[in-house]
Amino acid sequence: MTTDNEIVIELDQVEKSFNGQKVLDGVSLQVRAGTTTVIVGASGQGKSVILKHMLGLMTPDAGRVEVFGQDLQRASKRKLREIRSYFGVLFQNVALFDSMTVYDNIALPLRERTHDDEKSIRRNVEEKLALMGLEGHEAKFPAQLSGGMQKRVGLARALVLNPKVVFFDEPTTGLDVSKSNEIYRLFFETQARLNYTAVIVSHDVPKIFKLSDYVALMAKGQLQGCMSPEAFQLSDNPLIRSFVVETMGPIYSSETEESLLYEAL
Ligand SMILES: Nc1ncnc2c1ncn2[C@@H]1O[C@H](COP(=O)(O)OP(=O)(O)O)[C@@H](O)[C@H]1O
Ligand SMILES: [Mg+2]
Repeated sequence: MTTDNEIVIELDQVEKSFNGQKVLDGVSLQVRAGTTTVIVGASGQGKSVILKHMLGLMTPDAGRVEVFGQDLQRASKRKLREIRSYFGVLFQNVALFDSMTVYDNIALPLRERTHDDEKSIRRNVEEKLALMGLEGHEAKFPAQLSGGMQKRVGLARALVLNPKVVFFDEPTTGLDVSKSNEIYRLFFETQARLNYTAVIVSHDVPKIFKLSDYVALMAKGQLQGCMSPEAFQLSDNPLIRSFVVETMGPIYSSETEESLLYEAL
């Protein structure tokens, strides 16, 4: 089914070294439209470096990164800007602007990247506030919000341009299990509504594991397969096996939370 979808992002044998240390050693991946791909792996393995290549923030030493069929290294500045305008990004440190209200934080990409008038900005921001259950909080400043609410503001801001592709880098870091599930629930609800393609990076097996379409393990400089969560759990690749054994424990220890999440969807 999803294998027929158009390829949105393609990494072909990407290599990247820092100070003589090879972090990416032939990373290949295809991300298809409308799917959710989760990249997991221990910290320091190069997961964020992969995302930065997809975003065009880093260039490969060798290999190729294509987004919407465009080789990013050959793209003009204008083309790169256009491609980036289809992206939404939510990183580990939400990076809200402390001196701006919730409303202005969410409106910022619209003011920077579009010529929308204030009336249509308001309509769009209010729609995202409602999606995230943030109505009534628009005049507050980030410091007045809980960690979970800050992440929801970050998610609203990541989605305000109605992106075609959304990148999440450890989006639930620092949140407890129930707050993490809340973020993932909002993520899947908005994905169903806005139809975006998602690439999620996580250092363990996230709660959304079973809801994602593809999972790939970053280890030893390469992505170890890219397969369904079911196949991932049953894989006989020794690197995947030991990762699954190390990280699946926490998933099953909170099955109640997990089933609540699935029920809610
Ligand atoms: N801009 C950079 N300059 C030098 N080294 C970097 C840079 N970005 C990442 N690295 C190194 O690359 C490796 C992988 O980093 P990263 O992708 O952030 O790992 P993670 O899998 O935890 O996201 C680390 O050893 C990190 O120190
Ligand atoms: Mg990282």
